[in-house]
Amino acid sequence: MGEGKNLVGVDIGASAIKVAQLKESRKRFQVVRWGFAPLPPQTIIDGHVMNASVVTETLLKLFHDQKIAQRDVAIGVYGQSVIVRKITVPMMTQAELDEQITWEAEQHIPFDIKLMSIDYEVLRKRPEAGQMDLLLVAAKKDEINDYAGLVREAKLRPIVVDINAFTIQNMFEAQYGLPADSTLALINVGAAVTTLNIIAKGVSSFTREITNAGDFVTEEIRKSLGCSYEQAEAYKCGGGPTQIVPQEAQQVILQASATLAGEIQRSLDFYLATSGESEIHRVYLSGGSAYLTPLAQAVEKRARVPVQFFDPMINLTVDNKYVNEPQFRAMAAQMVVALGLGLRREKEQRQWSA
Ligand SMILES: Nc1ncnc2c1ncn2[C@@H]1O[C@H](COP(=O)(O)OP(=O)(O)OP(=O)(O)O)[C@@H](O)[C@H]1O
Ligand SMILES: [Mg+2]
Repeated sequence: MGEGKNLVGVDIGASAIKVAQLKESRKRFQVVRWGFAPLPPQTIIDGHVMNASVVTETLLKLFHDQKIAQRDVAIGVYGQSVIVRKITVPMMTQAELDEQITWEAEQHIPFDIKLMSIDYEVLRKRPEAGQMDLLLVAAKKDEINDYAGLVREAKLRPIVVDINAFTIQNMFEAQYGLPADSTLALINVGAAVTTLNIIAKGVSSFTREITNAGDFVTEEIRKSLGCSYEQAEAYKCGGGPTQIVPQEAQQVILQASATLAGEIQRSLDFYLATSGESEIHRVYLSGGSAYLTPLAQAVEKRARVPVQFFDPMINLTVDNKYVNEPQFRAMAAQMVVALGLGLRREKEQRQWSA
């Protein structure tokens, strides 16, 4: 995956900024620095940064407090500004493809191609049919530039821009490997967005973003109990220091989890109905809302598929000098995107480089 040192992974989520710096030694990755800083509600709405200075200041403070000297970073973007298509093209060489890709993209992307950054990955070559399958990715340049600009304001250099769904897949591959014979759904449930990526026979076959996630549960508790956002969030996360969660809140959590699970289920059903695949063998949950046990249970019940926690620490060690291991482990599933971005290297020849 490229050469040079690892970039610092910077995941700017709706609820919090997460950063992770990795170092590879003897084929294993080690977490050498990490950081987590909550963002005030309404800082990011529908994937748009409403309060740029809060984001910039939070980033500056995180890098300073965590003593991260490196400025070269990889950032992640959601799908609203990104279009992903699986396309089939005639067999050609890498050089031919690099030349042809813009033309190919024009056939599939419903926007002015000059305004888009284009990237692709070869999924499968089928010489017998004279064809190859590509994953085509196009992102709106100005949205990517705005976002990269924000990160530059924090005195960072965004070298790579990645898409969250694929970042999670890279991290999964680094930890578990991608099975050649089964179909997996990687589901990241954050605060505002749920990212879904279905991997069949080792390649991504379907991605979707649902603009609903953990915040919905908090909001439902707040509305039903007439309490503050902070109180509702504490109930959702187990009650805070008192660990007391009123019966009514528990009821709302169950209901809201079932609603979210229903939305996830609709996407899984859509995939099954359109892909010709008959089964999803396993779901791996990540993101902060993976810690919401009733949600995992609701997904398992609805989908009738085993749901497992995505543990990014299987093949990962930590530098104990700077990383408090129990603390990091306790929120590892929430760090998956930052960790996946931290896998990216300095010298990657990607057209996405910002
Ligand atoms: N122990 C817990 N139990 C339940 N929910 C939790 C727990 N810890 C965190 N969460 C929830 O996880 C969400 C934050 O997760 P995450 O950091 O993955 O989201 P984000 O990246 O900030 O948001 P998004 O990806 O939607 O932009 C919040 O809704 C938070 O309430
Ligand atoms: Mg997120």
